[in-house]
This record gives sequence, structure tokens and C-alpha cells, in this order.
Amino acid sequence: MSFRPPLPLRVATPAGWAEAALADPAGLLSDHAHCEKKAALAALSLLNAFTGDPRSALLLAKLAEEELGHFRKVLEALQRFGWELRPDAGNRHAQGLLAASEADRMGRKGHEALLDRLLIAALIEARSCERLYLLEQAAGAHAELGNAEWLAFLFELERCEAGHALAYLSLAEDRFGAATRVRLDWWLDREAEVVTKLPWRAAVH
Ligand SMILES: [Fe+2]
Ligand SMILES: [Fe+2]
Repeated sequence: MSFRPPLPLRVATPAGWAEAALADPAGLLSDHAHCEKKAALAALSLLNAFTGDPRSALLLAKLAEEELGHFRKVLEALQRFGWELRPDAGNRHAQGLLAASEADRMGRKGHEALLDRLLIAALIEARSCERLYLLEQAAGAHAELGNAEWLAFLFELERCEAGHALAYLSLAEDRFGAATRVRLDWWLDREAEVVTKLPWRAAVH
């Protein structure tokens, strides 16, 4: 079955990536715990831009709650495997996208910064979804992560991140209308540049 990411990503992650990421499953899982934590924090911090918009605020609260649930489940999985939560080594995908936003935003106005934050969140979710799918495909043959419970968990995460990508896109479209697709087109090229330069390591990004 072919995979369609929730956003039209312009560079596909190469097939060999998942094997490299699975080389250190304890590191991969630890890094992913931090990703889920940061996803919850990002949704909560975006709430400040949606006061006076109860529907969007509620959607962000649900996103934050779901990410926090993922964070707890990844921590529980670490505990089951007897692996520890390592220090946060940072998300280079997110850092690259934020740097691209900063470089482009010189002299631009505040509301455009919010559009970028929403689109960056959507792109991170979409790339996570693509890579979780690749991990799910590769993990079947893996000694520790090849069991049915773990594969079901990866599938659940992948499905949720696809929904989150579309949720951030809809938040952007509600606020910014047609400008959203114009800016998304620009962002899809930036994301392709950033993801191509990422070193492969035991992390989703
Ligand atoms: Fe998540
Ligand atoms: Fe997510």
C-alpha cells in the first residue's frame, strides 16, 4: 500500500532512513518522548493567539491534550523496555524551519509570524506522520519493536499526527484565508530543503 502524507511534502524520506533510526531504539523512543512533550507545549503556547476564538481555542486544547497523552504513552513504553529518558537533544527539523522563518521575516508584521507558526506546526506533524509510517513498516523485523502492541502504537501515532497536520492547516485557513495556501507553497520548498540536510540519527527528525 502506498502512503500519502497529509500535506504534499516535496521530498520523500529515503527508504534506508528507518533502519538507521531503529539502530538505537532506546534513543529513538527517548527523543520521541521529547517531541511529544514539545508538541503539547507548542499547542498550549499557540492558545494565546486565539483568545476570542472559542472554536480554535478548543481545538488547540484538544491537540495539547492528545500530545500530552502521547508523551505519557511514550514514557510508559520507555519504562516497560527498561530504557531511560535521555536529555533532549533538540529537534533539528523544527530548528531548521524556525531559522527559515526568522530569515524570511525580517521587517514583516506580527500576524504573518502566526501564519508561519501554524504552517511550521502542520509541516512537522506531516513529516512525523510520514516517518512514523516508515518506522512502522521497518519495525516488523526489529527484535524489540517488532511486536504487535508496538506496531499498533506506531500506527496510532501516525494516524493522530496526520490529523494534527490538517488541524493546524485548518486553524491557519480560518484565520488567514487564501494567504495560507500561498504561504504553504513557499513553506513546502523550505521544508524540502531542511529535511534533505538532516543527518540520519535515532530520532524521527
Ligand atoms: Fe503526537
Ligand atoms: Fe502531533
